[in-house]
Amino acid sequence: MANLNIKPLGYALGAEVSGFDARKPVPPALREELLHAWYQYQVLVFPAQPLSMTEQIAFSRNFGDVDRNDMAPRYRDPDHHEIVYITNKTLGPNMMSAKRVGRKWHADATFALRPQKGALLRCVEKPPVGGDTMWANMYLAYETLSPAMRAFLDPLECVHDVSLLPGAQESNGNSAEHIAEFRRINPPVIHPLIPVIPETGRKTLFLGWVREILGLSLEESAAIIAFLDQHAGSPEFVFRHRWSVDDIVLWDNRCTRHIALPDYDHSKTRHMLRTTLLGEQPGRLAEGRGSLGNRETLLEAVQAVS
Ligand code: SIN
Repeated sequence: MANLNIKPLGYALGAEVSGFDARKPVPPALREELLHAWYQYQVLVFPAQPLSMTEQIAFSRNFGDVDRNDMAPRYRDPDHHEIVYITNKTLGPNMMSAKRVGRKWHADATFALRPQKGALLRCVEKPPVGGDTMWANMYLAYETLSPAMRAFLDPLECVHDVSLLPGAQESNGNSAEHIAEFRRINPPVIHPLIPVIPETGRKTLFLGWVREILGLSLEESAAIIAFLDQHAGSPEFVFRHRWSVDDIVLWDNRCTRHIALPDYDHSKTRHMLRTTLLGEQPGRLAEGRGSLGNRETLLEAVQAVS
């Protein structure tokens, strides 16, 4: 049995886990300990785990069903569909650029019908300084709202739209054909704003690629989303990780948000490989709410309140 060492890293979230080799099969008791720590700390850092792609996929399976990324086929490795590139390297002509992935606070792939439960990101190559990632605890973001605001938000549902991703916008250097395909695969979907996470029984603020809140006018939606976005980014909810090569970070995508900081020399390589875990709670299609039709109006609404 491994000699597991779990050390909290941040006040709001985050812990480092050492004392085992992620290349080896994880026995059931150790897996239980890891899952327990994951639900407790939301973000786990596993230092010095030099995994191959196949080993990363196998290790990821300890935390849930590994996604094959059919909703983002041009970001995944052609031979290992479970692996997504998060890299500033130029990828092949059939791939979409991952150079600007993650530069805004977000939860991954909330535009998918079945949003992801979590993800594991492995650092393969990094710039000498910077290129950090920050995660924020969305349980705390919810719990620190006033009781009246929580009661207002609890029953609400949101439309999530892939068009809001920087990578799905023309200005980002991806071809119109690839962007159209990405939007076609991912029509707008509806998810609760305040889901309950089954393993902890806690309510959380689920902000991802939210376009509008159902039942509110676009102006009201934009104002509430802007407020929640600002509140959820408060520094006291945040843990910041400075990467070392062969770190793996596992996060719960349902109750955290993250941001990849562009605070590094972009002539240097930052190359990360991500596996993602399928979530259990499917949303529903936002029938009749086209992906771009409302976008111009929404941007006008956002401008009106900002
Ligand atoms: C992501 O948004 O999943 C990637 C985060 C990072 O590159 O640090």
